[in-house]
Amino acid sequence: MKGLFFFFSPFSLMFLYLLCISFTAETEAGLRNGDGVYIVYMGSASSAANAYRAQILINTMFKRRANDIVHTYKHGFTGFAARLSAEEAKVIAKKTGVVSVFPDPNYQLHTTHSWDFLKYQTAVKIDSSPPSSPEAGSYDSIIGILDTGIWPESESFNDKDMGPIPSRWKGTCMEAKDFNSSNCNRKIIGARFYKSPDDDSEYFTTRDVIGHGTHTSSTAAGSAVENASYYGVASGTAKGGSPNARIAMYKVCNPGGCAGSSILAAFDDAIADGVDVLSLSLGAPSYAHIELNTDPIAIGAFHAVEQGILVVCSAGNDGPNGGTVVNIAPWIMTVAANTIDRDLESDVVLGGSKVIKGEGIHFGNVSKSPVYPLIHGKSAKSADASESSARTCDYGSLDQEKVKGKIVLCENFDGSSYASSARDEVKSKGGIGCIFVDDRTRAVASAYGTFPTTVIDSKEAAEIFSYVNSTKDPVATILPTVTVEKFTPAPSVAYFSSRGPSSITRSILKPDITAPGVAILAAWTGKDTSISLEGKPPSQFNVISGTSMAAPHVTAVASLIKSLHPTWSPSAIRSAIMTTATQTNNDKGLITTETGATATPYDTGSGELSTTASMQPGLVYETTAVDYLNFLCYYGYNISTIKTISKSVPANFTCPADSKLELISTVNYPSIGISGFKGSENKTVSRTVTNVGGDGVAVYKVSVETPAGFSIQVTPEKLQFTKDGEKLTYQVTVSAADDSLKKDVFGALTWSNAKYKVRSPIVISSETSTTN
Ligand SMILES: *[C@@H]1O[C@H](CO)[C@@H](O)[C@H](O)[C@H]1NC(C)=O
Ligand SMILES: *[C@@H]1O[C@H](CO)[C@@H](O)[C@H](O)[C@H]1NC(C)=O
Ligand SMILES: *[C@@H]1O[C@H](CO)[C@@H](O)[C@H](O)[C@H]1NC(C)=O
Ligand SMILES: *[C@@H]1O[C@H](CO)[C@@H](O)[C@H](O)[C@H]1NC(C)=O
Ligand SMILES: *[C@@H]1O[C@H](CO)[C@@H](O)[C@H](O)[C@H]1NC(C)=O
Ligand SMILES: *[C@@H]1O[C@H](CO)[C@@H](O)[C@H](O)[C@H]1NC(C)=O
Ligand SMILES: *[C@@H]1O[C@H](CO)[C@@H](O)[C@H](O)[C@H]1NC(C)=O
Repeated sequence: MKGLFFFFSPFSLMFLYLLCISFTAETEAGLRNGDGVYIVYMGSASSAANAYRAQILINTMFKRRANDIVHTYKHGFTGFAARLSAEEAKVIAKKTGVVSVFPDPNYQLHTTHSWDFLKYQTAVKIDSSPPSSPEAGSYDSIIGILDTGIWPESESFNDKDMGPIPSRWKGTCMEAKDFNSSNCNRKIIGARFYKSPDDDSEYFTTRDVIGHGTHTSSTAAGSAVENASYYGVASGTAKGGSPNARIAMYKVCNPGGCAGSSILAAFDDAIADGVDVLSLSLGAPSYAHIELNTDPIAIGAFHAVEQGILVVCSAGNDGPNGGTVVNIAPWIMTVAANTIDRDLESDVVLGGSKVIKGEGIHFGNVSKSPVYPLIHGKSAKSADASESSARTCDYGSLDQEKVKGKIVLCENFDGSSYASSARDEVKSKGGIGCIFVDDRTRAVASAYGTFPTTVIDSKEAAEIFSYVNSTKDPVATILPTVTVEKFTPAPSVAYFSSRGPSSITRSILKPDITAPGVAILAAWTGKDTSISLEGKPPSQFNVISGTSMAAPHVTAVASLIKSLHPTWSPSAIRSAIMTTATQTNNDKGLITTETGATATPYDTGSGELSTTASMQPGLVYETTAVDYLNFLCYYGYNISTIKTISKSVPANFTCPADSKLELISTVNYPSIGISGFKGSENKTVSRTVTNVGGDGVAVYKVSVETPAGFSIQVTPEKLQFTKDGEKLTYQVTVSAADDSLKKDVFGALTWSNAKYKVRSPIVISSETSTTN
């Protein structure tokens, strides 16, 4: 619960509340006191008994209150969302066939700086290295996106050269006052919106008024747009990662957030509509620690995966603290965010010659000369301000007389201030420009409009301080923003990216993968004047950061794999992406975090998304329906609940007698998490791989990266496949030199031959869970 109070907002109050009641012993299914919208989740839709029970409940309770039913779920799973009193919710929770009843949560979009992301004035080029399209697959894949809607007029959604809509598509293009069937085409083939009871009717449309959904959709599957640029800066071709894929937008978020009841309704529809991959760039705040059976994303995703749909979700932006990753169900693919090899530089020139590198996007009218007097915020303190607030250039902290005509150096020395607020203060006091010292955001370019602003790190700042200290009349200027390609080192983990371990179990490593999520250029709504430069029409493209931007990169690659291998299961596709991920950066070193330390699997999962190797992984780890059922047993669900939840329970399935959290390690996952490790015993887990290399006969040898003080034994050390589709099982035994495992340690194993490398990270922990 550390950090809870740094995130005070109306949302956090609500989640704090949810959190607390989940600790008060067994309050019926975790209900809060009070009326409101509740979600009643009743498991699989294929069970006639479940559907019947749901209908009876609705008929008996809501005969005279039809308006109180907000949504009914009946395609992918069963249940409903309705206005209930706390008493009614308690009664329903006890009914046969009801898995869980919980207040409708409000989820958040995973863009950074949500406090001002609508105000961004940004520039730059294209999305990071879009996958070099493999030969178009035989299969036409459909990407469903749960987000803020879409701006259909964007050039990114033109359907030039696209074939007819796949005949299996059963979705629709919902009518609204500003969105009708003519807004759908062969690119945008589906558009649905969901009415949340407290929403304004102006949001009853799939049209995107925020921009986020347009951005994620075009990153995943936007058509190529030549000469995309932000007011001429860094022009190039903007193109989604899977430019031939179709898009179905499910609008579940409005400016007030994303209602859980709408998210579930969207999953229910998407399953029936026939999407292949679902992409969600949103989630609960990490401190809420939502349980799987009261998390609409975990519930919806379970049923989507059960029907063969891969679900890709962002990991959240609550980093860099550990244990902050969300969307952690083992059937979800969880995506962290990293920087790319493009830097948006606005450099500082000291004394007319010495150049200090800075980061940020500004459109200020500055050049190498003239130079301006340089002053530290502390030295420009207004009479009634504190020294520390002047150091950070807080609102109202600077003296107009001292700042006027100068460039001001401001420091985020206590981690509580933002470059944008320092800029506002310097600007309002007649300053010329703002240099902001912040190690955290140094690598994440934000936009600062027309006022010259740049962010430097504390090492760079030391040079400026020493210059200011040793010079009688220090002068400086800030150069115009330039786009630097081939920036090194890249990728590196974005400071905001949420980190593992998972709050529910250390036996499943989360996040699964990392992908570009910093300063990503993609399509935007066409009419957002808040991002336009004075006197110019709004930009059709915008640059934003977040794990929100990373998830659609993975979605794109997943959809390409699906077109090449239409019969592959969601878990085979996830495995292909995870086992081919890379661990090195463009400096030939290991990927680092925002501090420069080597990243661990808690930062990056299996590593950085590979857009080519993932198409042909050689071997895949298939996580079967029975694996997920076993997970539910180990996690503590009983067989009757599991049979209500899942439609895939074999008649002879029973929960293992010794079901416990540590056994989750045995789920056939593409990474290996061993928890509850005591040095005095050896732990063995097995994994099964399927040969998909296409050469029939194939021989793989194992190599192991072993953490110091441990031994990792793999048997057999050689896998000899005789045909495609063959499955072979191996055992991994971990032992320690002594029993002093104090912090989690990391290793890996790789199966390889001349053609393929199939790598799995290994995490060893003495703890079973982080929610102690
Ligand atoms: C859709 O809306 C546009 C613009 O309002 C209008 O011109 C067009 O006729 C409408 N098409 C349909 C099929 O309703
Ligand atoms: C590309 O965009 C720039 C800036 O908007 C413009 O000056 C240029 O003419 C465009 N080029 C093409 C080929 O459209
Ligand atoms: C830009 O700055 C230069 C030099 O300070 C000045 O001469 C020029 O008028 C400015 N241009 C604009 C558009 O403000
Ligand atoms: C510069 O001087 C200030 C006092 O004015 C001092 O606190 C700081 O350590 C000095 N910095 C350097 C790099 O010399
Ligand atoms: C299974 O678990 C549910 C929820 O905890 C409980 O209500 C039910 O009685 C249990 N059933 C059996 C057969 O133990
Ligand atoms: C259940 O039956 C299937 C085939 O009908 C068999 O492959 C499987 O091993 C059985 N599982 C158990 C736990 O007995
Ligand atoms: C654990 O494995 C090591 C070798 O990997 C072996 O020497 C040791 O005897 C094993 N310990 C137990 C308790 O099985």
